[in-house]
Amino acid sequence: MPEKVTFIDPTGEGSPIELESFEVPADVPDRPRRVAKIPDPDPFYVDLGMLYRFAALEKVRRASSEAFVPLHIAVRGHMGTGKDHDIEQFAALMHLPYYRIPLTGEVRDVTLIGSTKLYGDGKGGTESRWEDGDITRAIRGPAVVNLSELNAAGAETLFALHGLLDRYRALDLPNGESVKLQADVRLFGTMNPTDLRDYAGTQTLNKAFADRWLIWEKDFPSESQLTAMLERRYPAMKTEFVEALARLTVEVNESFRARDAGTRVETPMSLRSILDRVPTGLKMFAKAPDPLLRSWQEFVLPHIDPYDRDHYETVWSAVVRKGPAGPPFS
Ligand SMILES: Nc1ncnc2c1ncn2[C@@H]1O[C@H](COP(=O)(O)OP(=O)(O)OP(=O)(O)O)[C@@H](O)[C@H]1O
Ligand SMILES: [Mg+2]
Repeated sequence: MPEKVTFIDPTGEGSPIELESFEVPADVPDRPRRVAKIPDPDPFYVDLGMLYRFAALEKVRRASSEAFVPLHIAVRGHMGTGKDHDIEQFAALMHLPYYRIPLTGEVRDVTLIGSTKLYGDGKGGTESRWEDGDITRAIRGPAVVNLSELNAAGAETLFALHGLLDRYRALDLPNGESVKLQADVRLFGTMNPTDLRDYAGTQTLNKAFADRWLIWEKDFPSESQLTAMLERRYPAMKTEFVEALARLTVEVNESFRARDAGTRVETPMSLRSILDRVPTGLKMFAKAPDPLLRSWQEFVLPHIDPYDRDHYETVWSAVVRKGPAGPPFS
């Protein structure tokens, strides 16, 4: 049974959006495998606005009388800002199987689209059979397809996807079959911005490819958003620690955006650092004289290139200097 799911605007601006979830029909050939790919909702997930926007677009799309408007969302943001997590949580709430397919330059067409393979026919000869690639398999049934690292994709891959993404709405396979984009398939993508810093293996998006997406920016989280995420995930973490960590993060990311190459940091603080690694450090070093400093040294700095450490030190000294007294958890 489809369920009604309510999406709340975290900014308080828009009214709640109610959407009916999808269902994997009983006659889908790979149903058990698909159902197993529906993600679980993350109890620690805090919508910073992206999930609500996904829902708002979904509502417009469902209300649209036009037969088809190609609306595929590409989320662009720096490392560890939670792009993939947003898309996964949308799939979880919509009860859609989630296929995350990286498009890195090394991935060949055959992996994504498919190829004809030779098999023994049991009589000493061979027969050829088509075998779906990752994208082809994903779009044959209800799915959220997340093409991650869009701007790392090779030209060959981009062109293979052009038709699927525009009005043509189909993937033409080399074996002559044409796989239609179905009404219960949603295509998403993620990418890192290339304007500010270098992400190895990425390039600016091919213009014709970019034109087939709605590009939405995902910014660094604000201090209050970081606080909300930390409090949700670690209710026992003392306020002083939550505040110091949130402030540190905001300042590092502010410095990452600075124009002056002489003082700015070259690596932002990712949500993985803040939500996973530093709190682990705080638990490990709970009895240290300065638990936050110790976690910073052991769990943050190793991710920073040696030439960039000074800049990180500068932010630490300006924002915290001395971490709050432990223990970090009550
Ligand atoms: N809105 C959120 N609420 C709570 N936790 C989150 C949220 N978004 C992300 N996280 C946490 O941060 C981690 C990083 O998120 P994610 O992998 O989606 O980042 P990303 O933007 O795709 O990064 P990259 O560009 O490096 O691939 C997740 O594993 C999750 O634990
Ligand atoms: Mg990602």
